[in-house]
Amino acid sequence: MSGSVTTAIVGLQWGDEGKGKLIDLLAGRHDAVVRYNGGANAGHSVVVEGVRYALHLIPSGILHADTLAVIGNGVVVDPAVLLREVDGLAERGVDVSALRLSNRAHVVLPWHRAEDELRETILRGGSTGEGGQIGTTKRGIGPAYADKAHRSTAIRAGDLLDERRLRQRLEAVLPLKSRCLEALGSPPVEVNALIDSALAWGARLRPMICDTTYLLHGLLADGKSLLFEGANATLLDVDHGTFPFVTSSNCTTLGIPAGTGIPGRCVERVLGVCKAYCTRVGSGPFPTELHDPTAERIRERGNEYGTTTGRPRRCGWLDLVALKYACMINGVTGLSIMLLDVLAGFDELQLCTTYEVDGERTDRFTPDAAVLDGVTPVCESVPGFADEVRAARSLGDLPSEARAYLDRIEAFVGVPIEVVSVGPDRAETIQISA
Ligand code: IMP
Repeated sequence: MSGSVTTAIVGLQWGDEGKGKLIDLLAGRHDAVVRYNGGANAGHSVVVEGVRYALHLIPSGILHADTLAVIGNGVVVDPAVLLREVDGLAERGVDVSALRLSNRAHVVLPWHRAEDELRETILRGGSTGEGGQIGTTKRGIGPAYADKAHRSTAIRAGDLLDERRLRQRLEAVLPLKSRCLEALGSPPVEVNALIDSALAWGARLRPMICDTTYLLHGLLADGKSLLFEGANATLLDVDHGTFPFVTSSNCTTLGIPAGTGIPGRCVERVLGVCKAYCTRVGSGPFPTELHDPTAERIRERGNEYGTTTGRPRRCGWLDLVALKYACMINGVTGLSIMLLDVLAGFDELQLCTTYEVDGERTDRFTPDAAVLDGVTPVCESVPGFADEVRAARSLGDLPSEARAYLDRIEAFVGVPIEVVSVGPDRAETIQISA
């Protein structure tokens, strides 16, 4: 679409930053919205004209006419979830004919979900529940990516279209999967039932499945612009996040080339999305986490409960050390600060500007859970803002303390703020330059 450059939107914290809203805001200015990583572990909520849409697999660009919604090869797709989402949107009158799915996207099968669940249960171990589990969403994401790495046991979307090949693949894989599941204590898989389901998925997905790499390159060659939608978030990236408490894909912009076939140099603008505070779901380090009434208040005001699992999210102050690191890894060119309205009404706010490790101060974020567990956040206090900010539509409408809070973030991170969100609706947004 004229005037828009190819852009990536990426979460800079542990997910749930409100990327869905931003993607929805920008989608109409691009010709295609493209997912490159993750699977049904992601949950994007978008509120359009008072109607809330919760999408897990389908790029939120689907809510815009004239915009293609593309699921790239780097995504792991649970066909049952995808088709439920397709049906749900169609029932609400959303046209889903612009959805495309890479023939090389890997398929999440029932055994992946079973393995995810069993691994978590077994690793949790003893009665204390303090074992080696990750706290996954149990959507089969890790086991599906593991099969991609194993190669021999993987099924890709294109395989669903050819009955002979599908039957051959599943029959070859099944003895191994059955043995593994049996060892983990899970019931056996009924091969014919699985083949029937997989063929039915293939029949319904056929019109959407294609070579998305050539599709996207064709769009770029025609001067069209793409919007890449990162699922999950930077600190959950398997290489650059708080390992091992991460997901199984490259959620950062570094995942775009591998997950779509589009070279990184084609991405001209990177919008990094973060909350005005921090949250995290599941296990893993979180230096600025709070366990007090402030956390409770942020959780309630921000409705901090998982879109995918409904789990209460852990809450804490904004961690600028982690944020600066995330901007560096993604090559962020502009910041989008979400949920500023949630912080209204506090007398004082805290921003973490340094970590203390073994008595030494550092401004480096180490993406390793063992190191981060030993970190003490050093925070600076800034005045809170009393007024509600949901009606603000420009920076000038904000209380001066709220503007000072944003200025401090911008100055610390060294990246300009382009968007500030002050409420869930599309309209409740301050667009500084977008
Ligand atoms: P998995 O992606 O289901 O394997 O879960 C791995 C970790 O990533 C868990 O701590 C999840 O809670 C977390 N996670 C995965 N996707 C998201 C997301 O979209 N938002 C927030 N946390 C996520």
